[in-house]
Amino acid sequence: MAKEYRLGEVLLSRERIAERVAELAREIASDNGGRRELLVVGILTGAVFFLTDLVREMPDDLDVHIDFMSVSSYADATKSSGVVRILHDLKNSVEGIDVLIVEDIVDTGLTLSYLQDLLRARRPASLRTCVLLDKSARRETAVKVDYCGFEIPDAFVVGYGLDCAGRWRHLKDIRSVEAL
Ligand code: PRP
Ligand code: MN
Ligand code: MG
Repeated sequence: MAKEYRLGEVLLSRERIAERVAELAREIASDNGGRRELLVVGILTGAVFFLTDLVREMPDDLDVHIDFMSVSSYADATKSSGVVRILHDLKNSVEGIDVLIVEDIVDTGLTLSYLQDLLRARRPASLRTCVLLDKSARRETAVKVDYCGFEIPDAFVVGYGLDCAGRWRHLKDIRSVEAL
């Protein structure tokens, strides 16, 4: 039987998120220095909100490109199935290009570790990863995260792209969810 959920407290306000996103963008842009283009790869669907805010905080003279991948790792609302499938791949080759993977959250690490291995095999000039949220208590596989917005406790959270069975992605703040 499908569980019912209700929204809980605000864990990260829109103001705190915006401030941290701007800091991350500055850090990423300065690390990219005088290099070539930066391909920002968003992982659908959760990362879309974070990605669009992040790239708009990057300087105008950074050669930013955007692409998306869609993978499936969760069987249902809250449980990790451990299965990662590619549902939609990048449009172009990443060979010789500086790539930044952008994710809303790293939880078990299964999604990111799969994506990092996959993209590394395509020989980008560099491969970095930026996550908004790190729920490190739930990690099942080691994964390298170069930029992290916030460490969060092992609670179920929604908003700013994060969903509960498809709901609540559109919330401006990140909030906890309580099972009824
Ligand atoms: C969530 C989240 C990450 C992934 C993290 O995506 O957006 O992509 O799970 O979990 P992991 O570290 O345990 O692999 P989900 O599969 O729910 O898809 P969505 O982005 O479309 O919500
Ligand atoms: Mn996701
Ligand atoms: Mg999800």
